[in-house]
Amino acid sequence: MKKVKKLNKVRLAILGGEKIIKQKPPHFVWPIIDKKIEKAVIGQLYQSISIYNRSGIFKEFEDDFAKYHGKKYALLCSSGTLAIHSMFSAIGLKEGDEVICPAYTFFATVSPLLFTGAKPILCDCDDNGNIDPQEIKRKISPKTKAIIITHMWGIPCQMDQIVKICKRNKLILLEDCSHAHGAKHKNKIVGSFGDMAAWSLQGQKNITGGEGGVLVCNNKEFYYKALLLGHYNKRCKQEIPKSYPLSKYSTTGMGLKYRAHPLAIAVAYEIFKNYDKLLNIKNQFARTFINNIKNLKGVSLPPAFFDKNIKPSWYGLVFQFNNKELRNLPIENFFKALQAEGLRDSDIPGSTSPLNLLPLFQDPAKLFPVYGSCKNTFSYKTGDFPKAEHFYKNALKFPVGSSLKDKKLTDLYIKGLKKVINNYSDLL
Ligand SMILES: Cc1ncc(COP(=O)(O)O)c(C=O)c1O
Repeated sequence: MKKVKKLNKVRLAILGGEKIIKQKPPHFVWPIIDKKIEKAVIGQLYQSISIYNRSGIFKEFEDDFAKYHGKKYALLCSSGTLAIHSMFSAIGLKEGDEVICPAYTFFATVSPLLFTGAKPILCDCDDNGNIDPQEIKRKISPKTKAIIITHMWGIPCQMDQIVKICKRNKLILLEDCSHAHGAKHKNKIVGSFGDMAAWSLQGQKNITGGEGGVLVCNNKEFYYKALLLGHYNKRCKQEIPKSYPLSKYSTTGMGLKYRAHPLAIAVAYEIFKNYDKLLNIKNQFARTFINNIKNLKGVSLPPAFFDKNIKPSWYGLVFQFNNKELRNLPIENFFKALQAEGLRDSDIPGSTSPLNLLPLFQDPAKLFPVYGSCKNTFSYKTGDFPKAEHFYKNALKFPVGSSLKDKKLTDLYIKGLKKVINNYSDLL
């Protein structure tokens, strides 16, 4: 039973009432810079601020990260976008190939593909906002070479079905785990399902160095090709054996530089060392939040939140604002009321939008002439992916605490959300 409890008449802050949170932002601070991180960064600063080969902090991070995911190779990069580009380049995509991609994701899951000339075949999403396996099946053609998936907002995709589809159709599986560090599906960690996987280590990510990225794989050839794309000279010479047919390119690689910054990796490595503890804290906060809001009118939670097989990473707590239950109150008005209550870290995710709404995927040829030829052209438009567009238009994102100190704020965010829902009719 959904309940709307009328407390004794409370006035919403947006209508002149007292706000729930008076504390100025920032609220949920991330990353938390502590003495350990400070020490690691200063230590690294004196050791080396540029690493040309596979040594030092890069080797330590990569060894541990690969092991954590049960993979043979890990390769740090300067961003998640470039780790994703490295995957597309490593698997040898070319003009005329097709890659199945989620319509609902951050654009960098797909934009690097445009540099290969392969065509992105977008797919609608399921009720969790993740790529829908039934849609994938419909989009496979003789030209399909690979599928890339994103575990959106930290919720693992439907991996049983996706892995089966890839095996049956001999397709390469790539995972964008940028929202989902350490998330698990049936106790198997994301990033371990695919042929290759990539993570962003940027600013707000659960494992962050401020900027950075990393990829993993088991396939030696994919690894060498990722090295050749952006890790020329010393690192290529150190790792690519003379017997490998492309080793003669080691000095230049493909001419790009995707190396990470050692200071960023010093930060990310400290966070990674204690990561399971962080995941536990986040899980506790997320569960408190869910238990408190699951029966509220106007709130629809993704089914994955109640699936025992799924352990999200809680990059954010994203749910659907169901205004049908609130007499069609526009989400923008609801959001303004939340902000007025002082819930400044609540968010309507804007830039993570269905790709068909973006000029880059509506009219790519002006920036990427390779898509001007009629054989290889594509053009998406508003309305192409109704489920993704609906999910996007109704998504609200709440922060999930990372330190026990966030308990008070978490309780206040819950209280603020309840207050606005209980008094929504005053906004109509
Ligand atoms: C799903 C997803 N993929 C890729 C990226 C790109 O990562 P980066 O910003 O490190 O290049 C992001 C960044 O926000 C992301 O959210």
